Amino acid sequence: MSVSSESSAATDDKSFPIVVLISGSGSNLQAIIDSASDPESCIDIRAVISSNPNAYGLKRAHRAGISGKVFNYRDYPDRSSYDAALIAEIDRHQPKLVVLAGFMRILTTEFVSHYSGRLINIHPSLLPLYPGLNTHQRAIENGDTEAGATVHFVTPEVDDGPVIIQAHVPVFETDDSNELACRVLKQEHIIYPKAIRWFAEGRLTVQNGEVLLDGNKSLKQQVYSDEK
Ligand code: GRF
Repeated sequence: MSVSSESSAATDDKSFPIVVLISGSGSNLQAIIDSASDPESCIDIRAVISSNPNAYGLKRAHRAGISGKVFNYRDYPDRSSYDAALIAEIDRHQPKLVVLAGFMRILTTEFVSHYSGRLINIHPSLLPLYPGLNTHQRAIENGDTEAGATVHFVTPEVDDGPVIIQAHVPVFETDDSNELACRVLKQEHIIYPKAIRWFAEGRLTVQNGEVLLDGNKSLKQQVYSDEK
């Protein structure tokens, strides 16, 4: 997979267009909006697209003056026509990066291939552990002492693909899945804007399925936190 950030760097203001896809609360979207509002950031959130008409994230987009649109799967006969319509809408905004932020749809291979190298996702586990749903409950049931979140390039396999950054948090014996989810989410809000910034600055490359930051394998692309 080649990464196509084309190093547009932060030299000229808001020069790096992205589109964010959501389905729910949009707290990660909010973190991206907040980070993009920094005058130093080159990120231009051109549009937010939601698969869910009631997603709170649409309100967040509206409040930030970002165009928001709903693509409800019920309006399409099948997955491939849904994804084709989604591609047409996304491409209208000519994004250099497409950001999945809690987008609860499995995407077709056509969609993923179309954005190969410029499609990223955040998943609430330390991938390859716990792809899919109920990640926090599964980590607790497994007796894990550590959990976290992963930002990764998207490949056709669900919750797979080269890892850009992971955040680790402790799991406490008293945790229920909500408490753990909150602890992880707080870290998601740190690592997702950071990964987007790295991509926009052209600092990421993928070599043999492994993500390099500044061409460097030895850089630990991980955040550790003992925050409660
Ligand atoms: C996050 O936990 C993210 O990791 C997962 O979906 C959730 C979205 O939360 N993919 P929000 O909508 O960003 O608040």
